[in-house]
Amino acid sequence: MPAPRHQALSPGEGSILILGAGAMGRLWAASLPTDTTRLLARPGQPTDTDTFRFQPVDGPEQLRTVSVRPAAEASQAELLLVTTKAHQTLDALAEQLPLLPPTLPIVLFQNGLGSQQAVAEAWPAHPVLAAVTTEGANRPEPDLTVHAGLGQTWIGAINPAGQRHLDAITQRLAHSPLRVQPEADIQSRLWRKLVVNAGINPFTALLDCRNGDILAQPLYQHHIDGLCQELSALMAAEGLATDPPAHLRATIEQVARATARNISSMRADVMQGRRTEIDYINGYVTRRSRALGLPCPVNAMLTEKVRNLANG
Ligand SMILES: NC(=O)c1ccc[n+]([C@@H]2O[C@H](COP(=O)([O-])OP(=O)(O)OC[C@H]3O[C@@H](n4cnc5c(N)ncnc54)[C@H](OP(=O)(O)O)[C@@H]3O)[C@@H](O)[C@H]2O)c1
Repeated sequence: MPAPRHQALSPGEGSILILGAGAMGRLWAASLPTDTTRLLARPGQPTDTDTFRFQPVDGPEQLRTVSVRPAAEASQAELLLVTTKAHQTLDALAEQLPLLPPTLPIVLFQNGLGSQQAVAEAWPAHPVLAAVTTEGANRPEPDLTVHAGLGQTWIGAINPAGQRHLDAITQRLAHSPLRVQPEADIQSRLWRKLVVNAGINPFTALLDCRNGDILAQPLYQHHIDGLCQELSALMAAEGLATDPPAHLRATIEQVARATARNISSMRADVMQGRRTEIDYINGYVTRRSRALGLPCPVNAMLTEKVRNLANG
């Protein structure tokens, strides 16, 4: 059942820290109660407040001001939301965690797979959870955050300590207009999102087109069945419930049609000359397949081509 929404916070509750003041971080900063939400300052970054324009899905643009604090001043923190990109996460946490409470729960918002396990292995004393969200946010200008699409967020435990905090954290994040609910099997939900991202994002980046436009392109048509076979075989080898390749293809195409006009995050990163998350999507599939002795020529080819595109 979805957690309750729009409840008042009890006095004395500790603060929620946000690491990564990009589109997703500012969406949460704008949505959670401002008196208990803090952006974590980078080492050496001036601390005070961060004021930005926030465009909700409905209604007029608003001005939001969130406190920016260094980790050393966050001893009362109750929860850390990590909203950096997947490849930024380990470095960002290594800068901050030594100064934060030693068992502070961490919720990871990164797309793809690989970064969540790396965090749980690097900091085993911390309860680690992952969020899968269909909320859409972007930053068309540095001081403007747009909540582009209403969605839903599922939170689930990555390690046993995370499981013990799951209900409390879900309740805490439900003190916002965003819809949040606990997920008992977050690995399966991460995988389902990975399948869709692996089947849409690299093609949009390589073809420089919107999500719906990949479907008629020869690059997509020549490789999608091979891609789905590789995904299905890897999921089976990992012991996950999986669908036959044809079902995975149908799911990918359903999402591509439903989001036909969207610019994928991977294409947006390439357009802005930023590093993509390919290493945590098709790159993760390639690494895991090779480790298990499974062929993965399509995922390897897409990973390499997108890496070259981003480098170029
Ligand atoms: N946006 C969405 O709609 C959406 C939806 C679902 C999932 N996600 C996932 O959420 C994650 C974040 O996405 P996003 O769109 O919010 O990306 P983003 O806009 O690039 O935000 C990442 C932020 O982290 C900051 N950062 C990088 N290294 C840092 C460090 N060491 N310390 C502190 N801050 C650091 C970045 O600053 P600089 O720019 O200065 O490097 C940037 O402000 C990604 O994994 C993405 O796949 C996003």
